[in-house]
Amino acid sequence: MTPALSAFIIVLTSLNIAGAVWLMLSMRKRSGEEPGPSSETTGHVWDGDLGEYNNPLPRWWLWLFFISVAFAIAYLFLYPGLGNYAGRLGWSSVGQHQEQQRVSATQAEQLLAHFAGKSVAELRNDPAALVIGRNLFANNCAVCHGSDGHGNPGFPNLSDQDWLYGGTPEQLEATIAGGRSGMMIPWQVALGNDGVENVMAYVLSLSGRSVPAGDVAAGKQLFATNCVACHGEDGKGNQAIGAPNLTDHTWLYGGSVDAVRASIANGRQGQMPAQLERLGPQRVKLLAAYVLSLGAGGSSGAAAR
Ligand code: HEC
Ligand code: HEC
Repeated sequence: MTPALSAFIIVLTSLNIAGAVWLMLSMRKRSGEEPGPSSETTGHVWDGDLGEYNNPLPRWWLWLFFISVAFAIAYLFLYPGLGNYAGRLGWSSVGQHQEQQRVSATQAEQLLAHFAGKSVAELRNDPAALVIGRNLFANNCAVCHGSDGHGNPGFPNLSDQDWLYGGTPEQLEATIAGGRSGMMIPWQVALGNDGVENVMAYVLSLSGRSVPAGDVAAGKQLFATNCVACHGEDGKGNQAIGAPNLTDHTWLYGGSVDAVRASIANGRQGQMPAQLERLGPQRVKLLAAYVLSLGAGGSSGAAAR
């Protein structure tokens, strides 16, 4: 706050308090009189004979005013309120917030210390750990993977048994800690329209589907030259680089003809953000354990419907 604004606020506040005190004193002068038929009226008359007395404020009311003013003065002396004056107690909302943060961080550390030294596999069988894992998931992961971990187009389903990067405790921990980036190159320019249609027809045939357009045999050729390096000879994918299995009915980006064509023609770059620095190793383990427990339901289905 600039000194001028601070001075303005101090003057304005002081004038207000002085005004309130003056009002109080001027009311007190007349407070001896008792209301009665002879008392002064305001002169307002309703319904012919309904008047209004102009009596002084009752004493208790005046005292309330008095106490409020005294409270205001004491408050402004102790707490920040008068321009740049910080108050005798040195209290600030930022300080209070930091203190509360410190307390809750200490409590969280104590809670987490309980699970220190346990492996992901052990945590997965510890109901108390899974409860914390579920809360962490709701706060940090649900925006992308859905509150139940079922995923969305582009964000994998974590509750099935189908893993881009592997579903062992170690692989899950590595995925969550370090993040992952999927890299599917765009093929439109290299293969042209016909090439994309043909290779798409072949890709769909891997999961038993057929499309009217596209030459599956020609597509198989293109797949062998361009795609097997990442998706494998049989199209079953490669977890080391997160290349999806193309032979199942689980599609990361949707299994409609348009979605698969778009994946091939334009490429895809899925980004799983790294969590280790944000959350620390203990929370990453709890999350890995929780994700592991999601798969236990055994529901295998389309990642992206
Ligand atoms: C900003 C969105 C986003 C957030 C937040 C996010 N993820 Fe992911 N996650 C992704 C994407 C996208 C992928 C797929 C990466 C790819 O396509 O290669 C992914 C992949 C994964 C995988 C690998 C799945 C597999 O099939 O191998 C796991 C496990 C995972 N996330 C867990 C988590 C957990 C646990 C959290 C919370 C700490 C989290 N994610 C937060 C976007 C997100
Ligand atoms: C450099 C490795 C690489 C090559 C080469 C490659 N892909 Fe991919 N592909 C990937 C990766 C990685 C993903 C997952 C991208 C992501 O996670 O965002 C992917 C995703 C896809 C998808 C989407 C799958 C889904 O579940 O939605 C299709 C379809 C696909 N690739 C087809 C092909 C075809 C056809 C070719 C050859 C013309 C090809 N890919 C070549 C790495 C590759």
